[in-house]
Amino acid sequence: MQWHADRSLPLLAVARARGAWLHAPDGSRYLDGISSWWTNLFGHSHPDIVAALRDQLDTLDHVMLAGFTHEPVVALSERLSALTGGHLGHAFYASDGASATEIALKMSLHYWRNSGQPGKNEFICLAGSYHGETVGALAVTDVALFRDAYAPMVRGAHVLPSPAGGDAAGALDALSAFLAANHGRIAALIVEPRVQCAGGMAMHDAAWLREARALCARHDVHVIADEIAVGCGRTGSFFACEQSLDAAGEGWPDFICLSKGITGGTLPLSIVLSRPDIFDAFLDDSMARGFLHSHSYTGNPLACRAALATLDLFDRLDVLARNRVWARTFTDALAPLAAHPAVSGFRQAGMIWALDVEAGAGDFSRRFHREALARELLLRPLGNTLYFMPPYVLDEDETDLLARGALAALDAALA
Ligand SMILES: Cc1ncc(COP(=O)(O)O)c(C=O)c1O
Repeated sequence: MQWHADRSLPLLAVARARGAWLHAPDGSRYLDGISSWWTNLFGHSHPDIVAALRDQLDTLDHVMLAGFTHEPVVALSERLSALTGGHLGHAFYASDGASATEIALKMSLHYWRNSGQPGKNEFICLAGSYHGETVGALAVTDVALFRDAYAPMVRGAHVLPSPAGGDAAGALDALSAFLAANHGRIAALIVEPRVQCAGGMAMHDAAWLREARALCARHDVHVIADEIAVGCGRTGSFFACEQSLDAAGEGWPDFICLSKGITGGTLPLSIVLSRPDIFDAFLDDSMARGFLHSHSYTGNPLACRAALATLDLFDRLDVLARNRVWARTFTDALAPLAAHPAVSGFRQAGMIWALDVEAGAGDFSRRFHREALARELLLRPLGNTLYFMPPYVLDEDETDLLARGALAALDAALA
């Protein structure tokens, strides 16, 4: 949430939402082309998720997870572990993406302390990375706009070149040299696999993460895959980091952070998956060796049940295969936009499309946003980068409206 003085664009009230559409009290409506900040995978109020939530509300609304457990949190942990082939067999719960980042960072640092290497307590992130805006997460977020105002509170991390800059080999060399010199003080490298989303939809090849993972393993440095934005099928596989595994299915990261789409955009939930050896390092009667991170709503049964219903939809609708087909259609529909004279850098990863606009002076993002709303579309560029992260449920007419409306909005914003 940004709280700033954009008086030119009043807040837009939303009274209800169904499928891909947001409905305002005055009868106007907007096709949600960015899945409400990448959360609403199956559109709004999907009947399967709503039914599961109603049932759960009648059964168990909430119980604290300290000393208690419940069926939805156990079932969800087992389902997610199975999706990693058991490689990341343990799950820790919170409510938002930034908290998942904090948990993964703390868990990595504490793991090394419990393992007799307390000096390994610093972190590496990539140029242009975004991992959330709480104070710990800002330390590994390299977006000046979000970080600079709070810099005196933030500890800072080592920012290395991103493979998304076009020089993946150079980024790997830089990581290799840095690890060789500094691995004794580094706990973990945190990355957004395949796409640095909030940093401008900057994409890189899956092979980079495979190499980076191998380098980190050689130097006893954890890899945290922040899949808060790119998980849940967004880049084509359920976890984006699956694309970086070797032929034997090895090379999983040490941690995966999930949030946003995991509940289909209905309730806040985040999860940090970790490897069994990391879990084992905390198993001890001493409280100080235990992992210390409590949230009141940790593992909330309603949110877990929404996540289970979301995973059911992936199975029942064969979502990954269906998305592959739809993505080809949408890429074709975007061809006129990609060929627009003001557009460069058209790119796609699974269900994410992005392009850069040469827009001259002024705030292109706000101008485009306003023109898109006038055409019944919710699209919010990141600076001059226009992107699409639609829900996985658009029909033919909606697909057409999104592609053609965006082109018309671009012409209007540039006029
Ligand atoms: C990659 C990534 N990590 C972390 C976050 C933070 O998630 P939240 O907004 O739920 O705190 C985001 C949010 O956009 C994100 O894209």
